[in-house]
Amino acid sequence: MPARGKAATMDRVLGIDVGGTGIKAGVVDIAQGKLLTGTEKIPTPQPATPAGIFSAIEQILEKFHWDGPIGCGFPAIVKKGVTRSAANIDREWIGYDALGQLKKLTSHPVNIINDADAAGLAEMRFGAGKPFNHERGGVVLMITLGTGIGSALFVNGNLLPNSELGHIEIDGVEAEKNAATVIRERNGWSWEEWGRRVNRYLQTLEFLLSPDVIIVGGGVSESKEKFFPFLNLQACLLAAKMGNDAGIVGAALAAGELGGAK
Ligand code: BGC
Repeated sequence: MPARGKAATMDRVLGIDVGGTGIKAGVVDIAQGKLLTGTEKIPTPQPATPAGIFSAIEQILEKFHWDGPIGCGFPAIVKKGVTRSAANIDREWIGYDALGQLKKLTSHPVNIINDADAAGLAEMRFGAGKPFNHERGGVVLMITLGTGIGSALFVNGNLLPNSELGHIEIDGVEAEKNAATVIRERNGWSWEEWGRRVNRYLQTLEFLLSPDVIIVGGGVSESKEKFFPFLNLQACLLAAKMGNDAGIVGAALAAGELGGAK
């Protein structure tokens, strides 16, 4: 029987999606983009320090009895394994060697990536972005609406990482303080009131970037009929197809051989 080579072990990756509110994980078949297990979810420790989040990640590894490759999505700029921002997590993450810390947990391959970039990779490869995931696919902008606003920008199937478009200011207010899902919930806004804010935000991005396609992701994409009627855009507007699993699947992709949008 042939020895189990590297390629054979890299088809299953534990994807971990660290969010401002919850940490979700599942074992992913990265060739199919499918979860092979149920997802485990634990609340993000507060304050969301590196120590707190890494102890939560260790709990997750124990829950899955996992000893294999790990891909992790973080709600921060991630450059060469170092987290460089902290909008909805503790400021200790700024300049933190997250990849180095993750490597201490396993001898298997690991990777970390921005959470919205992870969700975008998953949608491009397996979800709503699939028809545009090729060398003439044009400009695809994925926006995730959740605790914060994340973005993933693709040009002809290639990711431009760490775009952080949730932080642009419109009328002097940061977009994620006005159009994230939690802001609607916190203020008790109607879908229309919130939808008009999302519309203003997406129209601004459309003016700046002229995307061919805009994919709206985050858990709220499952309620698209409630707010899509208020979105008036030139680009082809799509709801993400992979829902809340996109972050987990994309994080796993980033660690696997299929990392990248293609
Ligand atoms: C962070 C991004 C992240 C987004 C969604 C923003 O506050 O700056 O890095 O992708 O939230 O979690």
